[in-house]
Amino acid sequence: MSAHAAPRTRVTLAGLAAKKAAGEPIVMVTAYDHPSAQIAEAAGVDVVLVGDSAAMTVLGYDSTVPVTIDEMLMLTKAVRRGLTVPLLVGDLPFGSYEASDEVAIATAQRFVKEAGCDLVKIERGGTTVHRARALVQAGIPVVGHVGLTPQTAVALGGYRAQGRTAQAALAVIDDALALQDAGCSMLVVEAVPAEVTAALVPLLHIPVIGIGAGADADGQVLVFHDLLGLYDGGAAKFVKRYADLRAAAIAGVEAYAAEVRSGAYPAIEHGYSMPREEAARLEELLAGR
Ligand code: KIV
Repeated sequence: MSAHAAPRTRVTLAGLAAKKAAGEPIVMVTAYDHPSAQIAEAAGVDVVLVGDSAAMTVLGYDSTVPVTIDEMLMLTKAVRRGLTVPLLVGDLPFGSYEASDEVAIATAQRFVKEAGCDLVKIERGGTTVHRARALVQAGIPVVGHVGLTPQTAVALGGYRAQGRTAQAALAVIDDALALQDAGCSMLVVEAVPAEVTAALVPLLHIPVIGIGAGADADGQVLVFHDLLGLYDGGAAKFVKRYADLRAAAIAGVEAYAAEVRSGAYPAIEHGYSMPREEAARLEELLAGR
């Protein structure tokens, strides 16, 4: 926030509903630690998601499947400490909510109580609709996630767009409607044709946040590392890079390494000194040993 900007008030679900009603796009971004949360806050986004994409972007796993509840909680707590204004969504990892309503509630309560999440996100339709309803009844606001659901990408045939036939599109729309009916407060729609989103959005009263889902969603979400060019690896078709921080970071560390090797760093101004008489006294003390 600039020195002269008015302080922003905390984002609320009612505020997001008002944005949807006014046709004002909602901005969501992922964050995984304290500095990325502070950046998202300073940039004025509406919603921050501690996505289980953290498994790949910051923990080095090759999919979102292995990340644990404790790993996600540690990252989510760090993000919470960096946020004031945006809503905070915690992503329940694969295997932490599917087995039963009781398991889902116990996991979600940890994200709310221990990590301070405002909402939790769970993936898929099907049995997840029951979990969503149970969570909402337990007082925990829920974000649904349909289309490409990375936790079950293998079952979907890989990381590929979903809903590309009329029948498949109808299945995505039916999942979305069921999740809304279960009480979800928001929906993420990932990697579906723009036509599917255009058909879906007018059917839902809850905000629809798209990622690779065209321009008709009520808002957009991108992964922090993707949009800032921090991720060493191929990005999905829908990613737009707004910066190349990886190249900038490598250049910075290379410059540091070169200066350490040449002796240019540290210079006098990077160090401390002692009064001349104390230095002289030290010399005497050492000489007297
Ligand atoms: O984990 C994640 O970052 C997500 C977003 C891509 C929506 O689920």
